[in-house]
Amino acid sequence: MAKFYITTPIYYINAVPHIGHAYTTVVADVLARWHRLRGDEVFFLTGLDENSVKTVEAAGEQDFEDIQAYADSMAEMWVGAWRLFNISYDDFIRTTQERHSRNVREFFKRIQGREDIYKGTYEGLYCEGCEAYVTEDELVDGKCPLHQREPKLIKEENYFFKLSKYRDRILKHIEANPGFIQPEARRNEVLSFLRRGLKDVSISRPGLEWGIKVPGDSTQTVWVWFDALINYMLPRDYWPADAHLIAKDILRFHCVVWPGMLLSAGYELPRQIFAHGFLTVNGQKISKSLGNVIDPAYLIEKYSADVVRYFLIREVSFGQDGDFSEEKLRTRLNDELADVLGNFVHRVLTFIQTRFGGKVPGGKIDEELEAELCGRVEEIEKLLDDLEVTQALERIIAIAGRGNEYFQSHRPWEAVKSGPPKAADCLLNCINIVKTLCVTLQPFMPSTCEKLAEQLNLRITSWGQAKKFDIKAGHPVQKPVILFKKLQTQNPSRQEGLVSIEDFNKLDIRIGNVVNAESIPGSKKLLKLEVELAGERRVAVAGVAEHYPPKELIGKQVVVVVNLEPVRLAGIKSECMLLAAVDGMKISLLSVDKPVKLGTKVE
Ligand code: ME8
Ligand code: MG
Repeated sequence: MAKFYITTPIYYINAVPHIGHAYTTVVADVLARWHRLRGDEVFFLTGLDENSVKTVEAAGEQDFEDIQAYADSMAEMWVGAWRLFNISYDDFIRTTQERHSRNVREFFKRIQGREDIYKGTYEGLYCEGCEAYVTEDELVDGKCPLHQREPKLIKEENYFFKLSKYRDRILKHIEANPGFIQPEARRNEVLSFLRRGLKDVSISRPGLEWGIKVPGDSTQTVWVWFDALINYMLPRDYWPADAHLIAKDILRFHCVVWPGMLLSAGYELPRQIFAHGFLTVNGQKISKSLGNVIDPAYLIEKYSADVVRYFLIREVSFGQDGDFSEEKLRTRLNDELADVLGNFVHRVLTFIQTRFGGKVPGGKIDEELEAELCGRVEEIEKLLDDLEVTQALERIIAIAGRGNEYFQSHRPWEAVKSGPPKAADCLLNCINIVKTLCVTLQPFMPSTCEKLAEQLNLRITSWGQAKKFDIKAGHPVQKPVILFKKLQTQNPSRQEGLVSIEDFNKLDIRIGNVVNAESIPGSKKLLKLEVELAGERRVAVAGVAEHYPPKELIGKQVVVVVNLEPVRLAGIKSECMLLAAVDGMKISLLSVDKPVKLGTKVE
């Protein structure tokens, strides 16, 4: 049994996951599931990078006094998102866990033992978005181009790691192992970076409360990247990792700093680091300030996890940059999942149901076709071995296309009239193609394949099942259920930035009455309000404490959005949102100009 240990980056917790994070995690999940199906001993690790300055900032912005409580609430959100996506990780690491900080201290001491750590003064820039030291020439208009943020000028005492000492060995390793960094463009990028020389790196910061303390010096905190990379060592028995999946934003940390750390500590290097491209949304960078962060939960609810998984992998060639849009998602759903895959499966199962009483008919196996399919599956294996997930998925859909063509060219509906044997031959072969699809798609669309396997009355337990036409005559199959529903694609001529009346009508805005208002201990900005609507009361946590004394609010008629997803603010669940006009520092709550019944809808 081969071992396969795969990781994703551990993500920062200053925000909830967006489709960029989902992308890496879904690909890792597909590969983990594929290896499991092949019988490999798999370990799939993902998790969260919590010891960052960003955590402290975000906790403050959201009025959490207790940073760990903030981290816990964010961890819940991330775990929840991965559950929705059906992510089959084997462990979920959080860097605030003791098991991790223990590993970090141990690692630090090991490197110290090699005399690779010394104290020095760092004077220069630090980008808290990157959590990294940056140089003047990396900035655009004085700002970090990745985070649109001005770096901090710092001068402080730090511990340094002698990274420069390992430059030649890292360089040689990359040169000697073409597969170590993939794709090729990323490998070349790292090579030319290393060829320009390599400086030591500071690996601690003084004066930070949050984070892991340097062993033996509680005035210093371990640099968050040094800390974060060590997460990968958690399942020690599985080390070295077979694949670290990342995007190109964090290439140098993984391909230069991490190998240096491992060489110093005397551990093996990972087998491969694969850095994929960036996803944009409608051609724009995904960013909070642009307001284009798509909530994966919204997509899943609308399209199902499997359709989103399919789309992410199929649309964006793994390794390249790519663009996300719902319009493109619907096109793939309609043109590939519904019209090709769903259609083939449905016509085969329907035919067996209506013409052969739900039992696979006896007939002749088309050996040429069986060999062809086996060849196709082997090609897919090779692609998956090379992490070519996009191409692999494309080849799988091509099998469904081939199935449709086979069905069509054998015209079983005519053969039934002229004599059943020919139709029986065709259907026996087609149902075996359906099974091949059910096996090969399983890592990509696990829930769909579970449903399909039920319809086929089969248990899919190994990848090898994809290569044999072993469904026999008499095997009962279920009535088909639709696997993919087509969705209307939108009128592409709609103007950017406009909202349709249907979309506007999704908002449920009503008139309410504030019946209770109290301040929240420890929060300067927030008030806890209770709003009476028609026959029900809802809690609203509103950022108006600096603008209204609680008493003044009681009895006020207000305008509230009642169907927003609830959020937790300062630990309290907020179930609706008050509308207000925000004029710089002034906040004025919206109201109505003549009294109306509570619960009246705003249209
Ligand atoms: O960098 N397109 O965390 P992070 C594609 N904590 N992938 C994207 C993406 C996009 N637009 N946006 C994010 C960190 N990703 C560190 C990692 S690891 C030891 C520490 C994915 O929350 C992609 O995998 O900023 C990228 O590398 C990662 O999220 C960055 O996540
Ligand atoms: Mg980032």
